[in-house]
Amino acid sequence: MIVAIDGPAGSGKSTVAKLVARELGFAYLDTGAMYRSVAWCALTEHLDLSEPLPAASLARIREIAHSEPVTFAFTPGDPLPSQVLIGGENITRLIRTPETDKAVSPVSADPQVREALTEQQRVFGREHDTVMEGRDIGTVVFPDAELKVFLTASAAERARRRAQQNATASEAEVAAILADIIRRDAYDSSREVAPLAAAPDSWELDTTGMTIDEVVAAIVAQAETRMEGAAAASSPDAPPDAAAATPGVRRGTPA
Ligand code: DC
Repeated sequence: MIVAIDGPAGSGKSTVAKLVARELGFAYLDTGAMYRSVAWCALTEHLDLSEPLPAASLARIREIAHSEPVTFAFTPGDPLPSQVLIGGENITRLIRTPETDKAVSPVSADPQVREALTEQQRVFGREHDTVMEGRDIGTVVFPDAELKVFLTASAAERARRRAQQNATASEAEVAAILADIIRRDAYDSSREVAPLAAAPDSWELDTTGMTIDEVVAAIVAQAETRMEGAAAASSPDAPPDAAAATPGVRRGTPA
């Protein structure tokens, strides 16, 4: 089973997706970390990342995306990865710098980079029950995901949450975070390939004013309903139309 969790930067996807994976006992895949890893490799090779990307940079970035699979290290018994690795190097923290934040936008806009990483994500999802987090999971990577959630929150709320992680953030820093969130939203939503968008059959959940626990509980309940519905539909005793009785997820409301 795939639980797809998409949404804009700072919507709380990572925190929520990890907790949902833990509750369900599913694997967790952070697809943003994969795009960040490719961007990080480009930075370490000092490629020219000015936009539009020069042809030589683009060629090398595509090569990296195809030839340097990102891997995740797990601690036994924990569904959440403890490390992000590329070429055996632990880059968990290195991909969370402001430089990577900036470099990842043009890198993730390239169709060939997306194709390479999408394929790796599909392989992972076919092998595990997964909570997969990103921007295009429900629209492109797994359009048939059993549950698709599109998490949103107002830009101001998202900036506030980010700033909270850094207790000493000044007013100017909060303003800079907000500006960066607005810039990334615009970039991710307007790119030609796999733009950030809610799938028509996704459950759009506005988390402004909700606690993390409330969001997690709502998603876990939905996933469990789906699993029960699927199990009932595949039972040999199920009437022929049991699948149709599986509750659907409607936009904006938990079904
Ligand atoms: O979720 P994140 O902020 O770590 O993602 C980093 C960048 O990667 C973000 O700018 C959007 C991009 N991304 C994407 O284009 N598609 C995904 N499935 C995941 C992330």
